[in-house]
Amino acid sequence: MGQSTEQYGDRLFTHDNAEERARLDSLALAVSGFTYQALASLDVPTGRRLLDVGGGTGVVAEHLAAMHPGAETVCVDRSTALMRDGAGYTPLEADVCDLAVWDRLGTFGLVHSRNLLMHLRQRDVLFDRMVDAVAPGGWLVVADLVDAPDLMRSLAYRAVFAQFRRYMEGELGTSMTYGTGHAQRLHDAGLTSIGVSYNALVVGPGEHGAGFMARSLRHLWPDMVAKGYARAGGADEVIAYLEAGRDWDTAMGFVTAWGRKV
Ligand SMILES: C[S@@+](CC[C@H](N)C(=O)[O-])C[C@H]1O[C@@H](n2cnc3c(N)ncnc32)[C@H](O)[C@@H]1O
Repeated sequence: MGQSTEQYGDRLFTHDNAEERARLDSLALAVSGFTYQALASLDVPTGRRLLDVGGGTGVVAEHLAAMHPGAETVCVDRSTALMRDGAGYTPLEADVCDLAVWDRLGTFGLVHSRNLLMHLRQRDVLFDRMVDAVAPGGWLVVADLVDAPDLMRSLAYRAVFAQFRRYMEGELGTSMTYGTGHAQRLHDAGLTSIGVSYNALVVGPGEHGAGFMARSLRHLWPDMVAKGYARAGGADEVIAYLEAGRDWDTAMGFVTAWGRKV
């Protein structure tokens, strides 16, 4: 364990990894229903451009483009390798921690970002940039995964998740609680019509949240062992529990918050 300056996507979770698309697909399948429900409730100004920040596979940008066919949807990510051609949005490869990127982006009728801020060491600065990128009358929607230990029924899963969280926080600078402050943060930034939904990634037959967590643990465990956060094989039983699809449980919490700029 050490003082790491590594950022999400430098080495771990790169889009070059053959498993990353499947991991992000299972995340999207687990949470997109919550995202789309929130987005459907917003009256986005007609004709204004839309932005998805850290859009990953482009799944939300594709949805936005289909919902707003008359407006350009931009999907920015440090890697566009997993985005689809001809999906109705404009892919843009850029590191949003390079603040000059925001000057080039301009303003939008909707800015959405899901499961990104939690991973950025400069998350407060980036949150402010997202607020600045919203045109008057437009919306900011921010969503992140959060730890929810009391919702985790399996004590073995709860313990493995605690190790995973220590590693993510220590090595990548991830916050597993940042999302709990999103609604208040939007209020403090002067946005109005604030709304928030609290949901969860579910473990159970046919549920995708379990697959996302199992893939994440498989990906990270060797590095967790190498860096002294865990022992070899220490997640095997929990991964089998997640993948068996027999028991009902909670894999993680998920918070979506939105607000309008006046
Ligand atoms: C956990 S994934 C979430 C993907 C997508 N938003 C979703 O929820 O399905 C985080 C995404 O943020 C991107 N990302 C991380 N750091 C970034 C940065 N500094 N600039 C732009 N994108 C970044 C990653 O490449 C990855 O696609």
